[in-house]
Amino acid sequence: MNIGTKSLLYGYHCFFIHPLALLCAWVKLYGWPRDWRIYLAFFVHDLGYWGKSDMDGESGKNHPYFGARLMHTFFGGLPGQPDHREWYNFMLYHSRSLAKADGGKPSKLCYADKLAIIIQPTWLQVLLMSLTGEIYEYMTGRGGTVGAGMTKRQWVEKMKADLREWFISEGYEFNASNSIISTAEAATKN
Ligand SMILES: [Fe+2]
Ligand SMILES: [Fe+2]
Repeated sequence: MNIGTKSLLYGYHCFFIHPLALLCAWVKLYGWPRDWRIYLAFFVHDLGYWGKSDMDGESGKNHPYFGARLMHTFFGGLPGQPDHREWYNFMLYHSRSLAKADGGKPSKLCYADKLAIIIQPTWLQVLLMSLTGEIYEYMTGRGGTVGAGMTKRQWVEKMKADLREWFISEGYEFNASNSIISTAEAATKN
């Protein structure tokens, strides 16, 4: 079984854990979603990992296209209309690298997806990523030595700290108990 499929079944992207973590993160950032399609997006945005032979490499990095095309097919606006690519971009740009490659901005889904990493218990993340082995790919990066000399737990904690820094650089704040506060400016991001 490919690593992407494993991740969806019982790894970090587990189909019944990741969407719930994402919902919690979304509520913290924006309040309860009022559009039912947002809930659907939580379930389908990472399904493109199915059958992928890596998580962050040439195969896995394109995983958002599946969910983007799916949502666009059903909910995309008519060609020429301002909302034509709304759902497509919302889904595709949950990936910071794909947003950057297109000269776009990360979508609201991206911020929730990243906050979901920060708010989950480290022990659970280490467990899930270890069950599938995906943590070894994450820790070595693309042939690099991102997590060299670190334990799995230390690496996850560092990833969370790096993401907190990213949120701060994007205009978000964290309070004393480490909960995120979305500033007025940040909360309007699309
Ligand atoms: Fe993703
Ligand atoms: Fe995700």
